[in-house]
Amino acid sequence: MAHNLLQGKKGIIFGALDENSIAWKTAMRCVEEGAQIVLTNAPIALRMGEINKLAEACNAPVIPADATSMEDLNNLFTKSMEHFGGKIDFVLHSIGMSINVRKGKPYTDLDYDFVHKGMDISAMSLHRVLQTAFKLDAISEWGSVVALTYIAAQRVFPDYSDMADAKSMLESIARSFGFHYGVKNKVRINTISQSPTRTTAGSGVKGFDGFITYAEKMSPLGNASADQCADYTVTLFSDYTRMVTMQNLFHDGGFSFTGVSREVIEAMEK
Ligand SMILES: NC(=O)c1ccc[n+]([C@@H]2O[C@H](COP(=O)([O-])OP(=O)(O)OC[C@H]3O[C@@H](n4cnc5c(N)ncnc54)[C@H](O)[C@@H]3O)[C@@H](O)[C@H]2O)c1
Repeated sequence: MAHNLLQGKKGIIFGALDENSIAWKTAMRCVEEGAQIVLTNAPIALRMGEINKLAEACNAPVIPADATSMEDLNNLFTKSMEHFGGKIDFVLHSIGMSINVRKGKPYTDLDYDFVHKGMDISAMSLHRVLQTAFKLDAISEWGSVVALTYIAAQRVFPDYSDMADAKSMLESIARSFGFHYGVKNKVRINTISQSPTRTTAGSGVKGFDGFITYAEKMSPLGNASADQCADYTVTLFSDYTRMVTMQNLFHDGGFSFTGVSREVIEAMEK
């Protein structure tokens, strides 16, 4: 059910790869709530062609941008402002990739070239996006930026490998830039720490099936779905959350504050 929460707002959505992507669902929800959007992804991801379906459904242009390229990001923000005829009200950063995780490298045997690449794509890219917008003065007053993260930034999940370090950095950038952008222009910046979700990025983690079931049994409300994450993100883009900034917000059905659940104890007793 739509409530026109984003009526008149304009946003950029990074990271819709296919219809399972959290960014895909968020793009659909933003448009249902009255927003106009621009879609973007790395040129290599766009070659799959899936995003054109979303672009059609959302009546949105697709502007390619590798989130590690300052030239691409400059072009993206400039072209988006031209398209909208003004500034941007919200940005979703839904980008993550670790070559070490993808290649099954354990945390004690990392390839550092892969670490560099993974950090740039998964964490530094948020700084790149924000710095580009900041310099172009591209985000309106009371604008909102959301990046997606995972609880491995606070607690150890061994097979999440170097993505855990990337997420810690991502959350730190959201806090630090949130201060500066808040002072400059009242722009708020938050991270949403989402439950494990079946997507291309999520399923790349070793043992994902067992893990998602464990999280489901540990969470009093169960795992939060991608659709529910999209709903939550809409609230953060809306005017109802104007004083929320520099926060890491758990969207995980209560997983983060649960020590153990009866179901997990019972499974241990068998
Ligand atoms: N799936 C989960 O279990 C889960 C849980 C918590 C947080 N997250 C986070 O949610 C976000 C979205 O992931 P998802 O689960 O929807 O998976 P996804 O694979 O659908 O999305 C990841 C996106 O990152 C994009 N990307 C990779 N390299 C890029 C680059 N250089 N430039 C621009 N874009 C690039 C990919 O093309 C893809 O669209 C990620 O930050 C992920 O870490 C996912």
